[in-house]
Amino acid sequence: MITVTKTFLPSLERYNFYLKRAWDNVWLTNRGELTLELEQKIKNDYSINNIIITTNGTIPLQIALKLFGNSGEIITTPFSYVATSAAIIWENCTPVFVDIHPEYLTIDESKIESAITNKTTAILATHVFGNPCHLGAIETIAKKHNLKVIYDAAHCFGVAYNNESIFNYGDVSTCSFHATKIFHTGEGGAMFCNDEETFKKLFYSHNFGHNGPLEFHGLGINAKISELQSAMGLAVYENLDFIFSERKKVVDYYNETLDFSKISNLKIREKTKWNYSYYPVIFDSEATLLKVEKALITNDIVPRRYFYPSLNTIPYVKGKQMPISESIASRILCLPLYVGLSTSDLTKITTIINQEVN
Ligand SMILES: Cc1ncc(COP(=O)(O)O)c(C=O)c1O
Repeated sequence: MITVTKTFLPSLERYNFYLKRAWDNVWLTNRGELTLELEQKIKNDYSINNIIITTNGTIPLQIALKLFGNSGEIITTPFSYVATSAAIIWENCTPVFVDIHPEYLTIDESKIESAITNKTTAILATHVFGNPCHLGAIETIAKKHNLKVIYDAAHCFGVAYNNESIFNYGDVSTCSFHATKIFHTGEGGAMFCNDEETFKKLFYSHNFGHNGPLEFHGLGINAKISELQSAMGLAVYENLDFIFSERKKVVDYYNETLDFSKISNLKIREKTKWNYSYYPVIFDSEATLLKVEKALITNDIVPRRYFYPSLNTIPYVKGKQMPISESIASRILCLPLYVGLSTSDLTKITTIINQEVN
């Protein structure tokens, strides 16, 4: 079966090499040396100002919202994974949706200001499939209205905008290191920020608020990653060049082979160094999508309707109508993209799609 994604596994030998260090140290969590090493590598290699690795990519969103949300209204995108709006509601804030740009698929910056009220405390926007939001416009709006900006950069490992890591943008930026992501620790994630005061707050928050063994800086939660996860991260990290180049080959194949007279794909924002994280295709209608999906599944190929549904339509969210996001969500399909996807598999996938849309 060809699935939409396949976890990249490093060699067991390298994983064991790192695990052995945890064994020798008899140290499995609480920011052990493997976690510190992984943080340092990412920080140095991507010129990142501050990083805290966490146990998944959802809890950094919650922590950022706990710090900046103040139970207020959060301007957000309906086109993201459910974690984005669930974190807002979980933290007793209210999501206020703003529709998306039809090609970039990120929040439409030109519609943000009209959604701001005196209850708005922050903007939480997703860089969709590694494609950056309009960073400049969002920063300007946030400054003008004194709002914090949180970026859900779950898909963005390796992305740069204007020659700067995407994680260095916004008041807080978050990432997911889930097993299906480009870089992963099995389960895991990270939060990033520039400001030292914010860094201290994030840091305390992710470790129960501890300020030393016997003192507490304030309220905190447990978002720490374990050494077992960091061992996986270090072993995967050694393969990043290979991972990016293999994924690029798949993306190039799709770009060259799919019939774009009938379908469209993601428009990457200018000045972006993209990471080949997903390959979404957008059909002319949901009926075409369902037809293509059925044909693929019949041939043991399992794509994923992602993101679906548009988050404003989830029953517990009850958002206003978002015509562009709802339309895109009903017509978008992510195609298989992973290291090891063979040319014959790619030929099979693209042949079926081109046949079904014509
Ligand atoms: C856009 C987005 N935000 C947040 C998350 C949550 O990350 P995690 O699964 O690591 O908690 C995901 C996971 O896929 C995601 O796609």
